[in-house]
Formats: sequence, C-alpha cells, structure tokens
Amino acid sequence: MSDYNFSIEAKNLNKTFIKKDNTKIDALKNFSINIPKGSIYGLLGPNGAGKSTFINILGGLVKKDNGKVKICGIDIDKNAKNSRKKIGIVPQELNIDPFFTPYELLELQAGLYGVRKKERHTEEILKKLNIHDQKNAYARSLSGGMRRRLLVAKALVHNPEIIILDEPTAGVDVELRQNLWNYIKELNQKGTTICLTTHYLEEAENLCDKITIINKGKILKSDSKENLLNLIGKKRVNFNLNCSLNYLPKKLKIYNPILNKNILSLTYDKNKTKLRSILNDLNNLKITFDEINTQESDLEDVFIQLTQNHDS
Ligand SMILES: Nc1ncnc2c1ncn2[C@@H]1O[C@H](COP(=O)(O)OP(=O)(O)O)[C@@H](O)[C@H]1O
Ligand SMILES: [Mg+2]
Repeated sequence: MSDYNFSIEAKNLNKTFIKKDNTKIDALKNFSINIPKGSIYGLLGPNGAGKSTFINILGGLVKKDNGKVKICGIDIDKNAKNSRKKIGIVPQELNIDPFFTPYELLELQAGLYGVRKKERHTEEILKKLNIHDQKNAYARSLSGGMRRRLLVAKALVHNPEIIILDEPTAGVDVELRQNLWNYIKELNQKGTTICLTTHYLEEAENLCDKITIINKGKILKSDSKENLLNLIGKKRVNFNLNCSLNYLPKKLKIYNPILNKNILSLTYDKNKTKLRSILNDLNNLKITFDEINTQESDLEDVFIQLTQNHDS
C-alpha cells in the first residue's frame, strides 16, 4: 500500500451535473491523470473546464458518476477516510467561518483530523504564512489575502503528503502571489506533492513540472512544462505575396511553409528565430509581398489547436 509512484491516479472519471433547467453538463469526460509523487502538477484550463469538479471529487465534496481514484495508492471508494487524510485542499472559494479566529480555526481543523494536541504545530503554521499577528482576530475582519493564507494554513494542519490548491492566486495581489509561489516551492522541496489548478499560464509556467490542459471536461494534453512551452513558443507569420510562387523553396522548409493561394504562412520558434532573418531569406529568394501579419501562439492558440484536433 505504501509503495506508489503516483500521489494521485485517476482513471476514466465521469461527472455529469444536471442544472436547474434540467440541462446536462458533462463536467468531466473520461478524465484520467497520473500525478507523480514529489511533483508540482498544474491543471490548466478556462473557467468551467472541470478543474474544481476534479478537486472536489478528490476531497469527497462531489460524487463521481464512475471511474477510479487512488490517493497515495488508496482507493477513495474503499477507504475514503484514510485517503482524505493524505491530502490538504485549499478551496477556490474563500469560505471561512467568520466567528472564529485563525488560531481557533486551525485548532478545530486539527481536531477534525484527529491530530493530537502535542503533535499540532498551529503557531508555526501561522508564522510561516504571515498571519500570526492576526491569530486572535475574528476571521471576518481579515482581508482577502489573509483569508487565502488562512485557507492554506488550514490545509496544512494534518501534515498531508499532497497539497491541492484550487486557483490559489485568483484575485490575489502580486506580492502575495509571489509569497505563495515561494511557499509552494518550499513545501515541494520538503517532499510534498503539489497539485494546483489555474487559468493563468504564467502561474503554471512559474511553478509546474507537468501540466494537464483541460477544456469542457476533456483532457487536451498532458505533458512536461518544457514540451508545452515549445508548443506555445511558436509564432506564425503570413505574407500576402505579390509574386507567383510555383514551388516552395528548400530554404523555407525549416519554417514549415504553407502556401494557400497567394498567402504564404511560415511558423517559427520565437525564442530561436528573429522575424528579420525570415525577411532576409525571402529577400534572397526574391519573394515579394504586399502585406505581412504575425500571430503569437499563446495558450489560447494551443487550446484552439488542440480542441480542433480533438473534435475532428
Ligand atoms: N454543483 C453544480 N451543479 C451544476 N453544474 C455545476 C456544478 N458544479 C460545476 N458545474 C458545472 O460544471 C462545469 C465545470 O465546472 P468547474 O469544475 O467548477 O470548472 P472550473 O473549476 O474549471 O472553472 C461548469 O460548466 C459548471 O457550471
Ligand atoms: Mg474552479
């Protein structure tokens, strides 16, 4: 049981919600993911993609229709209680009981997880997350940023092997975002597996080793950050030619040329090639044009490209 390579293994998860007007929404469709032990794993997708649904299934807040989930090798259907002890979830919503103080909330949470008094490290967590000064203030008086940190603190009280953060920096200011990122990295270096959802590419870029891109409940791609960024680093330039081109010169092969009527499209890696050198190549080949436009491929492009591939 204790021997596992993946902190989280999910296979063929499906979840359909039925809305008030009786329409169905497939929040997850055959969703499978393997999150390696010790990694920082990003679940990236636009709003409504199904990210929180997956997190909530892990936390037992949403019931899956079917599929299998193992947390640290423990099947959540067979041993829900033990599997839940392995994870600490920082929810997307800032729902904090306003009538408790941060200190009380952490102690309560520790009690809930059966952490013995002498094994608790409430003070240390409060300090680490910079909310120690507010430890006796009512939670309702805390700012949004402090609430976010308190939620992170709450997820840590039982020393979980996996921390799951659902949109940890949505609506958070730049300084706190940086703080949280550093803290997440620190936890990871000490051996905690991290899974976070985000719709910011920047966040995934800064933190994650591996990323799964999800849209409309379906996985579009799971890959290492490097491979995804290479995909994203591509840029396309279109030339409206004013000369006739009967064949594609060899010299342009490296740009994966596409000729469609009088539009010549070339793709290049913006980190390696400058547009200037492409223009020089065309000039040398005596290929002339009237107009030029460039398209940065960003995450949205990747989404579109992947979705089109998926639907066809
Ligand atoms: N409790 C619910 N009842 C009905 N629909 C829901 C419920 N929770 C989520 N959904 C729908 O499921 C889809 C996925 O939502 P969610 O998992 O929250 O996406 P994300 O976290 O990626 O933004 C959305 O279309 C959302 O409206
Ligand atoms: Mg969400």
